[in-house]
Amino acid sequence: MPTRRKFISQTALAAGMLPFVAKSLSIKKAANFPVVISTWDAGIRANLKAWELLSNGKTALDATEQGVLITESEMNCCVGLNGNPDREGIVTLDASIMNHLGDCGSVAALERIEHPISVARAVMEKSPHVMLVGEGAQQFALANGFSLKPQQLSSDAEKSYKNWLKTSEYKPIINIENQGHKTNPPNKLENGQFNHDTIAMLALDSFENVSGSCTTSGMGFKYRGRVGDSPIIGSGLFVDNEVGAAAATGHGEEVIRIAGSHLVVELMRQGKSPEAACRAAIERAIKLRGDKLKDKQIAFIAVNKNGEASGYALRKGFTFAVYSHLQKNELINAKYFYE
Ligand code: GLY
Repeated sequence: MPTRRKFISQTALAAGMLPFVAKSLSIKKAANFPVVISTWDAGIRANLKAWELLSNGKTALDATEQGVLITESEMNCCVGLNGNPDREGIVTLDASIMNHLGDCGSVAALERIEHPISVARAVMEKSPHVMLVGEGAQQFALANGFSLKPQQLSSDAEKSYKNWLKTSEYKPIINIENQGHKTNPPNKLENGQFNHDTIAMLALDSFENVSGSCTTSGMGFKYRGRVGDSPIIGSGLFVDNEVGAAAATGHGEEVIRIAGSHLVVELMRQGKSPEAACRAAIERAIKLRGDKLKDKQIAFIAVNKNGEASGYALRKGFTFAVYSHLQKNELINAKYFYE
C-alpha cells in the first residue's frame, strides 16, 4: 500500500506539479568529464596533480585544492610565500575555495603560512565563517595544525623588492606569459619591474560536481593591508553547481568592481558558453571603466556542467591550461579584446 508521501509525489509528478523534480529529471549528462582548467602557464603543472586525483575518482574539491598546492610551493613571483612582498617587504597571501554545495572559505592578508588554500578550506570546513583575515587567519591556521614559516623573502623576491625600492613607484606591469613555457621557474621579471597573477583552478569531477580554488600573493609592492579579488567569493571565484564555475586573474580591483566570477556564472546561466560568458564579463568591465583599464589586464576562466572549459582576457598574453580526456593538459592562448 503506497504511503501518503509516495502517493502525493507520484500524483504531483504525473500532473506536472513538481517543477523542481521535473527539472532535475531533464538534466543532461555532461559530455566531457572530468575536466580541469587553470590559469597561466603554471596551470600545466598544477593540472597534472589535479588530473591525477580526478582520474582516480576524487572530488573536484580535493583536486582543485591539491592542484594549486603545487603552485603555492613553486618559485613564483605571484603565488605563495615565494611571491613578491607588499611595500613594507612582507609577503601576504590571499586564497579562496568553493564546492558544489555552496560551501566556501577564504583567507586574506595571511602571513608566513605556506598553503593559504588549505587554510581557506579549513575555514570552510572547521569554522562557522567564510573569511578570516590577517592575524586572525594566522591564529586560526596555527590552531588547526599549520606551521609558521620564517618571515623571509625568496632570492627572486628580494631582488625585485630592492629594485622596486629605488623608485617605490606603484605601477603593475601587465603579465604576458612566456608562451609555451612549461618548466620552473615560471615568469620572472627583471630590473624591479613586477607583474602579478593568480593560480585559479576549476574542475568538474566524475560525480559531475564542480568546485574551484584561487590563490595569490596579490600585487607586488601593494599597500600594506591591500586585499585583491582572489579571496572574495563572487569576485575571484564563484561556483554554482547548477551552472558551472568561474575564476579570475589580473588586476584584482577591476575584477571586484564587476563581481567578475559571479557575473561569468550568471552569464552562463543565461545560456552563454564559458568563453562567451568570460568575454561578456570583460566587455562589462570595459563599459564600466573605459580608459581606466589602460595598462591593466584582467582575465577569466570558466567551466560549465557540460564539461566545456575556456577563458577570455582583456589583453593579449593570457594563457590557461585544460586537462580532460579530450584535451591532455593543453596550454591555450586565450582570445582577447585588445592587442
Ligand atoms: N588577482 C590577484 C590580485 O589582484 O590580487
